Amino acid sequence: MITPPATALVTGASSGIGSETAAGLALAGYTVLAAARRIERLNALAARHPQIIPHQVDLSRPGEVEAFCRAIAERPEPVEVLVNNAGYSTRGVVEDVSLDDIRRLFEVNFFALIRVTQACLPGMRRLRRGIIVNVSSIVGKFPFPGSGVYAASKYAVEGISDALRIELAPLGIRVVTIRPGAIATEFNETATRMTGDVMARTADEYKPFYAAARMAMDKIFAARKRTGPELIATLILKAVAAENPQAAYTAGPLSGEFIGKRTQLDDDAFLQFMLDRFGLI
Ligand SMILES: NC(=O)c1ccc[n+]([C@@H]2O[C@H](COP(=O)([O-])OP(=O)(O)OC[C@H]3O[C@@H](n4cnc5c(N)ncnc54)[C@H](OP(=O)(O)O)[C@@H]3O)[C@@H](O)[C@H]2O)c1
Repeated sequence: MITPPATALVTGASSGIGSETAAGLALAGYTVLAAARRIERLNALAARHPQIIPHQVDLSRPGEVEAFCRAIAERPEPVEVLVNNAGYSTRGVVEDVSLDDIRRLFEVNFFALIRVTQACLPGMRRLRRGIIVNVSSIVGKFPFPGSGVYAASKYAVEGISDALRIELAPLGIRVVTIRPGAIATEFNETATRMTGDVMARTADEYKPFYAAARMAMDKIFAARKRTGPELIATLILKAVAAENPQAAYTAGPLSGEFIGKRTQLDDDAFLQFMLDRFGLI
């Protein structure tokens, strides 16, 4: 349990889950370093919560990540609560996503997460306490059709979180994975922008796949209420405040059905479930 007024760092704090989490931590009494590219959003958040300190950084640029990590290391107060939340998705079957786009996505979703974690660990080791919360996704456990690259980045987040949890437990540092379902934030809008016109560049053979997946997703979403980012921020705050946080928390629309099936079924049965659920064969 890390209690205020410890220092927290939240990446991706300009919007959605990160913004709600940074505000919640500030209200609870933590000093919060809030990082993202859109500095005007961070400044507005800091104007509402004086305990928030904005940091502008583009996590897709390794040079900026290094400068950001130096700034973290030079702070007199170590970061005791790290929320690695920044992330985005790009859609498309694997053949339709360029390697440049895949590398950029991994810079933000995975490599920056590791580098920022490395920058915070010396301070946590010195104190022999700390909590690292890595925001994964339900797709950290299975890919939705057309989300393979994004899912791979979250599988990587799951893997590194599992490894860190084992390495850091003897040092008193907790590692928690958060797996949101479908949460109403700017996430989808960003994914659409980053994907571009995939139907214009895909091969004819994939067009029925995209159409079937789209129709199934629309049907699934039409039957569900939208849930805002507060649900996930509350879960993160709960993990930070817990004496013994769980290794992982899963919440939000679609999480029950799909993670449930992924847990119950073997690999072949799960493949069949997904093909049936999305009308793919
Ligand atoms: N919403 C969902 O349905 C959902 C489901 C599962 C998992 N998640 C995960 O939850 C996390 C938060 O997503 P969200 O739903 O809150 O989406 P969001 O509203 O789009 O927020 C994404 C945040 O990441 C930051 N970010 C993106 N690219 C960045 C970059 N290059 N450098 C620095 N910061 C960057 C954005 O800040 P700037 O644009 O200002 O840089 C923004 O603050 C992500 O890791 C996402 O994968 C979301």
